Amino acid sequence: IIAASRSIPPIPIDIMVQRSRVAIIGAGSVGATIAYACLLRKVCSEILLVDIAPEIVNGQVLDLADAAFLSSTVVRGATFEETGQCDIIVITAGAKQNQGESRTQLIKRNHKILNSVISSTKPLNKHAIILLVANPVDILTHIAQKLSGLPRNQVFGSGTYLDSGRLRLFLSQLLGVSETAIHAYTLGEHGDSQFVAWSSARVGGKPLMDFPEVKNLDHEKVEYDVAHKAYEIIKLKGATYFGIGACVASLCQTILLNQRHVRPLSVYVERLGVTLSMPAVLGTKGVEEILEVPLNEKEKKLMKSVHSMKQIIDKYD
Ligand code: 2OP
Repeated sequence: IIAASRSIPPIPIDIMVQRSRVAIIGAGSVGATIAYACLLRKVCSEILLVDIAPEIVNGQVLDLADAAFLSSTVVRGATFEETGQCDIIVITAGAKQNQGESRTQLIKRNHKILNSVISSTKPLNKHAIILLVANPVDILTHIAQKLSGLPRNQVFGSGTYLDSGRLRLFLSQLLGVSETAIHAYTLGEHGDSQFVAWSSARVGGKPLMDFPEVKNLDHEKVEYDVAHKAYEIIKLKGATYFGIGACVASLCQTILLNQRHVRPLSVYVERLGVTLSMPAVLGTKGVEEILEVPLNEKEKKLMKSVHSMKQIIDKYD
């Protein structure tokens, strides 16, 4: 019905997966884990791995090939130029946080890398979807939308999808309910200023705030813990990659199968003039609709992170 009412012709699923190619730029632990998760989910027919270090690409491709035979997915090294003609281009290339470093502090280094990555993928397939993962993902997505020349809805970031997964894991353990029944988002910046949209969250059809265990929580502390889980993992093992790898593979599947799931993604929000995480309908054409939730008490927090993001964007855009 949705397809008919919005005159978006459904593309037969088997054709999409048959011809679908996902390029992953950045063959480090995040990029390789995304490739691995795509393999296991049989998301696409071909995965192209690209990096400035060819030996890393060769090593990852040889290793991934030992898993690829189980999913009849072709995994190979490729040139930057080849990525421009893929269906999805995942950009993980960039410096990662050192212990105690914030995601925003990566902007200087990663803005430069993004610039060279995007120019080396051109000419871009006009239907290509660019999925930003490198941090600070919201600001880099905003910049990539301009650099790519693609429509904004085809360039978005993984945003707070992973953070929302971390929140749902915490709530499912607190309430003893499956995560799949918990519709709760962290929104705003994929960073220290993110916040939970408590008032619009539901468990099944019941408002989350109607659960005494949730009502009596220190909500600021929950938000802080979710936003800082990555710091804890980085302190223990140097980087995070399994969570983001699983999230990005799931997003690629949603796009290629035109599943139109609602996910919190880094998207350009017209009324704010910046790119940050809002619930968005995701399909084969990219972000098909942004479903802004009433933020109520959180609107002030949102505007604070919009202001700080605009200051950074003005310097780099
Ligand atoms: C994460 O949240 C580091 O942004 C990465 O796991």
